[in-house]
Amino acid sequence: MTLEARNVVAGYGDKSILEQVSFTLQDGETLAFFGHNGAGKSTTLKAVVGLIPVQAGEILLDGERIDGMPIADRLERGLRLLPERRGVFPDLSVKDNIDIVARRNCAGSGSKIARDDVYELLPMLKSLRGATAGAMSGGQQQMLAFALCLLGSPRCILLEEPSVGLQPDLVEQLFGTIREVCVTLAVSAILIEHRIASAMRIADHVMIINSGRLVFRGTRAEAETINLWDYF
Ligand SMILES: Nc1ncnc2c1ncn2[C@@H]1O[C@H](COP(=O)(O)OP(=O)(O)O)[C@@H](O)[C@H]1O
Ligand SMILES: [Mg+2]
Repeated sequence: MTLEARNVVAGYGDKSILEQVSFTLQDGETLAFFGHNGAGKSTTLKAVVGLIPVQAGEILLDGERIDGMPIADRLERGLRLLPERRGVFPDLSVKDNIDIVARRNCAGSGSKIARDDVYELLPMLKSLRGATAGAMSGGQQQMLAFALCLLGSPRCILLEEPSVGLQPDLVEQLFGTIREVCVTLAVSAILIEHRIASAMRIADHVMIINSGRLVFRGTRAEAETINLWDYF
């Protein structure tokens, strides 16, 4: 099991948003995570990565409790977050963005995804090597941010709306790459997406949150038998 959340309660200040959120992800699995605006999707990912504290419950990565750990320790263990706001160095070229993060994340031997690998996984970055990151389209910056989050040895990648600003053909390419990374490298992923049909195609599991509570949790096959909108 890569990631496990057990009865997680979390929120902001004294206020709780998440109510007893529990889920598990095995190596190589992708979880599509849906819910209306303000339902608690981002809050869930923030609690997992450590941007907000857990008020109750436990989070485990590879069987180890991580919910009390500093963010840096969670990143070191392979947790990655692609936030809604693109995380790139805007004044640097694509190549420099990748080189800088690779130097930090791929320093030890045996990293799963090295500098050259991200160009293979996301070929559009090859032709953009010399481009200034901040001058690229939103979709291109999103691809770069995704590349940065893959560098090193990811175990679990948390993706917030990675398809925002991407042309439809690139969405399918990106989702294909997410799937490929998960399956071939035994990485797990949580995918928050408004493109429900596309996300479903690469998902092993589907989870829907409503007002901080998980209202549906099942396999993709189970999700295909229900009307997802009933749960929004
Ligand atoms: N920084 C914050 N401080 C206080 N409340 C917040 C903060 N961020 C989000 N919330 C509240 O938490 C709830 C869940 O938000 P969020 O997890 O961002 O929803 P989603 O990502 O599903 O759209 C909402 O009611 C939102 O107003
Ligand atoms: Mg959100």
